[in-house]
Amino acid sequence: EKGGYDHFMLKEIHEQPKAVKNTLREASEIKKIVQSFPKFNRICFVACGTSYHASLIGKYLFENLVGISTDVTLASEFEYSAETLDENTLVIVITQSGETADTLKALRLVNHKAKTLAIVNVVGSTVTREAEYVVYTRAGPEIGVAATKTYISQLTSIYLLAICMSGRMELLEKLESIPDYMESILENEDFIKKIACKYKDARDFFFIGRGFSYPTALEGALKLKEITYIHAEGYASGELKHGPLALIDDGIPVVAIVPPGKSHDKTLSNVEEVNARGARVIGLGSSKDEDLRSETMDMIEFDDEINEIFSAIPYVIPLQLLSYYISVMKGIDPDKPKNLAKCVTVE
Ligand code: M6R
Repeated sequence: EKGGYDHFMLKEIHEQPKAVKNTLREASEIKKIVQSFPKFNRICFVACGTSYHASLIGKYLFENLVGISTDVTLASEFEYSAETLDENTLVIVITQSGETADTLKALRLVNHKAKTLAIVNVVGSTVTREAEYVVYTRAGPEIGVAATKTYISQLTSIYLLAICMSGRMELLEKLESIPDYMESILENEDFIKKIACKYKDARDFFFIGRGFSYPTALEGALKLKEITYIHAEGYASGELKHGPLALIDDGIPVVAIVPPGKSHDKTLSNVEEVNARGARVIGLGSSKDEDLRSETMDMIEFDDEINEIFSAIPYVIPLQLLSYYISVMKGIDPDKPKNLAKCVTVE
């Protein structure tokens, strides 16, 4: 049932191109939903864990592409800030399982004060029965506790929603080219395995990025904590100088997510800062980015065409693989990390 892979997680990482392709088939369904929308002046995402990180990408996309003010709230915090909802707000809950107690509670708190849309992977789950609009991710069942292919599918649904709401249909073509590109990243797996071997004994890790790459940094750190038990921090790179820079010293691995785009130059200068303090920088960026290469100890290369707006899907894959291989090298079962359940049904 693991299809020849050692763990479900690795199988699911490899199923990601197919998961994106299948989720893209929902485009016409999403278009219909969007056509039936009233006019919204605000979007409010609500989710937990990895689904929260997908929501953060949603914020950058909706604000940049659709031009609609968007906020993101952790589902467990929602009850403390739900007062300002009205019929012009669309609340989007994102949940792989459709059963997460915090997310369900938040959905119930909206209670007809605003319109609700759920992005869900499990057909027939509780959330699908309670939200007004439902968008399915088509990742197929995910067994590993770490969310991988469902995250990538959530991102795909968010891109589709944002493209349909903005009417920028020409971007669809770009999105459709991503699954093939993902295959080529997966072929580079042995290189990530080598990086894993080099850094597996580190006690702490930092993941940094700006804009669209900030949620990717958070997701990279969460994966690492969850399945390797290594302390990891995900930071908006501009925040380093407001405190955490004090922790950067000799040998600490800093994973810097630096795709081409608006955020590139500023993130690069943050990379220079951590380098000056002795960090070992693992850079993720364009294969043509010689400035980044000269600042890194190891460089994970991507096609120069992948601009930050579409970077969230391909750039997270090496981070998933890095966590997976470190976990295995440490003798941990990445499918069943300690203290965690696949579906969290308590608040
Ligand atoms: O089923 P959900 O998407 O609502 O689950 C939310 C989180 O519990 C989940 O994403 C969790 O953070 C993952 N195990 C992370 O890999």
